[in-house]
Amino acid sequence: MKMGNQTVISEFILLGLPMDSDQQNLFCALFLAMYVTTILGNLLIIVLIRLDSHLHTPMYLFLSNLSFSDLCFSSVTMPKLLQNMQSQVPSIPYAGCLTQMYFFLFFGNLESFLLVAMAYDRYVATCFPLHYTAIMSPMLCLSLVVLSWILTTFISLLHTLLMARLSFCANNVIPHFFCNIPALLKLACSDIQINEMVIFILGGLIIIVPFLLIFSSYARIVSSILKVPSARGICKAFSTCGSHLSVVSLFYGTIIGLYLCPSANNSTVKETVMAVRYTVITPMLNPFIYSLRNQDIKGALGRIFSKWTVQLSLGQGL
Ligand SMILES: *[C@@H]1O[C@H](CO)[C@@H](O)[C@H](O)[C@H]1NC(C)=O
Repeated sequence: MKMGNQTVISEFILLGLPMDSDQQNLFCALFLAMYVTTILGNLLIIVLIRLDSHLHTPMYLFLSNLSFSDLCFSSVTMPKLLQNMQSQVPSIPYAGCLTQMYFFLFFGNLESFLLVAMAYDRYVATCFPLHYTAIMSPMLCLSLVVLSWILTTFISLLHTLLMARLSFCANNVIPHFFCNIPALLKLACSDIQINEMVIFILGGLIIIVPFLLIFSSYARIVSSILKVPSARGICKAFSTCGSHLSVVSLFYGTIIGLYLCPSANNSTVKETVMAVRYTVITPMLNPFIYSLRNQDIKGALGRIFSKWTVQLSLGQGL
């Protein structure tokens, strides 16, 4: 019988990043610094938006959701990567591996859906400025966020359950730094046809549909600006949409490059570098891209600090 000579795998080995052992400590410090920056930057955005009532608008509520999603997304892979860099046997239990896969998919897709909601928000703001508050009601914003959560729960659960069906035999070495689907599928020794089909169909839909929605909403924004060109309007629109578009291209550029253009020389090293880009770099850069050139965020930061200073000096005076 086929089942007879199969060993049940209880844990996987995560090979981590392809590097020499003398570089290990340097990279560990670098990644730790990047992770801390990601956490602090995104926390700062969330706290600022929560504290400052000027920022209680749909755009910033979505941004705060995006920051939350970024924060969780990097926490799915980074702590385990850092721990494994320090340990002799970089293993992860079977259940831990599936859990990591689930949350990786969950927050990755959530990010993608939130980018669509943000693009729609900018589209309404630019093309229907007079009806903006009526269209983007708190109810609609909340519905968009809840819908994103439901969709991403469904998608991640589907992929994870399909993965849990598979059996794994002798080889349990994942040549990657987290449990991602393609690496696990290569190790499986049962039939992976259904998994591949679902990944192909759902993956295509999830990458292409949001990308098209985002692209068409920014295309309409640009065309509506060009119809009634005023120097001030153009500047304002490009400064907000510019930061959105850089996040979108950072996020989708990597994913599309990775999944939709699989070249023949798609080596493990190249894949890992790309994965580092979207699991580590993108969540770290998002808060900076949004806030560096953003007057509202800077204003909020100024107001919060002056409030604290006043409170502090009042407290000392008493
Ligand atoms: C996410 O967006 C919703 C709806 O706009 C908002 O009510 C909620 O506070 C946001 N969540 C976070 C963590 O910012």
